[in-house]
Amino acid sequence: MSDSRSPRRLLVTGGAGFIGSNFVHYWCDAYPNDRVVVLDALTYAGNRRNLAALDGQENFRFVAGDICDRSLVDQLLQAENIDTIAHFAAESHVDRSIIEPAAFIQTNLVGTFTLLEAFRQHWDKERPDSYCFLHVSTDEVYGSLNPNDAAFTETTPYAPNSPYSASKAGSDHLVRAYYHTYGLPTLITNCSNNYGPYQFPEKLIPLMCINSLIGKQLPVYGDGQNVRDWLYVGDHCEALDVVIHRGVPGETYNIGGNNEVKNIDLVQMLCQVMDELAPQTLCSKDDSAHEYSPQLPVRPCNKLISFVQDRPGHDRRYAINATKIKTQLGWIPTVTIEKGLHRTVEWYLTHRDWWQPLLSKEYQEYYRQVYVQKGI
Ligand code: NAD
Ligand code: DAU
Repeated sequence: MSDSRSPRRLLVTGGAGFIGSNFVHYWCDAYPNDRVVVLDALTYAGNRRNLAALDGQENFRFVAGDICDRSLVDQLLQAENIDTIAHFAAESHVDRSIIEPAAFIQTNLVGTFTLLEAFRQHWDKERPDSYCFLHVSTDEVYGSLNPNDAAFTETTPYAPNSPYSASKAGSDHLVRAYYHTYGLPTLITNCSNNYGPYQFPEKLIPLMCINSLIGKQLPVYGDGQNVRDWLYVGDHCEALDVVIHRGVPGETYNIGGNNEVKNIDLVQMLCQVMDELAPQTLCSKDDSAHEYSPQLPVRPCNKLISFVQDRPGHDRRYAINATKIKTQLGWIPTVTIEKGLHRTVEWYLTHRDWWQPLLSKEYQEYYRQVYVQKGI
């Protein structure tokens, strides 16, 4: 997809994280004439290796730095003559926001404010069509649904319930205000739960994949009846592409997978795929050697499922009504949950060299803090 603004010069914040790195790969493949500059602070969730395959490519540059560093952001916008910001950088994990919310306020609110202010100084008001600030947000800003409630639309009132979703809601409001007050050409997307390659093992799907491979319990919060609407990350990248190219400045677009699944059902499906794929899949142990993955330590792997104490304030159900992006911009998701889970399990099975180093001392400490008090 292209438009009159091609080629573009993008600043991708948080491009070393899960969705950001998938997006950077997607964009560099789809638009080799565009310039892509990644700004990422490489927190625990950022991984330089996610982008290693792009190193040396002329149209790609990686900068390690904080979105709250105004002089760095100013300097990058100017030196790289940026016209499009794709803003992914955030603290993104609800459980961490419950333990330690401060970083969420700093990055999600102050960081977004810093980018908006820098872009406001940088853009050329005489050429609004040449600029774009895409703010990548979440469906969690809308709060929690009861089983029979209608899915979230773009006009559903905000009702965030966790420090994470409150900080994202605040950042959405700032972006909205910069459009209304200054005319800054902004776009907001509110997306449902993503899954796929490069997702940090604190999130449900990679955590379950990795725990089953190392024979650890599979902790399901509460009664396991909470519902999420799952979207394969590649579909999300395609949706962001259409929003950047065809979205109307000042508008918000909901993005979802039409895939509402109860947590316990999702974990059971995942275990089935794991049982099916684990014994036959080639696993890369490190860069130089390969070996067949060991049999699953526990089989069938759903024997590892363990119900644990619930997450405080746990939202019961999210569901996205994605009619607006479908009818106005022509996007629909294409990867079914079965296909997406298959691809994802296969990726974790064949990328032990990617996830093994992430199970660091720091990660074990985080795991202990969240899960030991839940009773495992
Ligand atoms: P992630 O935690 O995997 O990655 C976040 C990235 O941001 C990391 O690379 C991290 O190093 C970087 N970062 C954090 N603080 C920074 C700072 N101060 N300066 C610069 N970089 C910083 O997150 P994700 O799951 O890829 O989510 C990306 C965005 O999408 C977030 O804004 C999130 O709210 C939103 N989102 C995520 C989902 C999901 O299911 N994961 C769904 C909807 C929306
Ligand atoms: O809805 C979009 C949001 O999805 C994003 O904005 C967030 O960045 C992203 O982290 C995700 O939030 P969730 O809290 O829904 O995702 P998480 O993977 O943490 O949990 C998914 C569901 O699984 C949720 O109901 C909690 C439950 N869960 C999670 C973990 C980590 C468990 O039952 N056990 C677990 O160990």
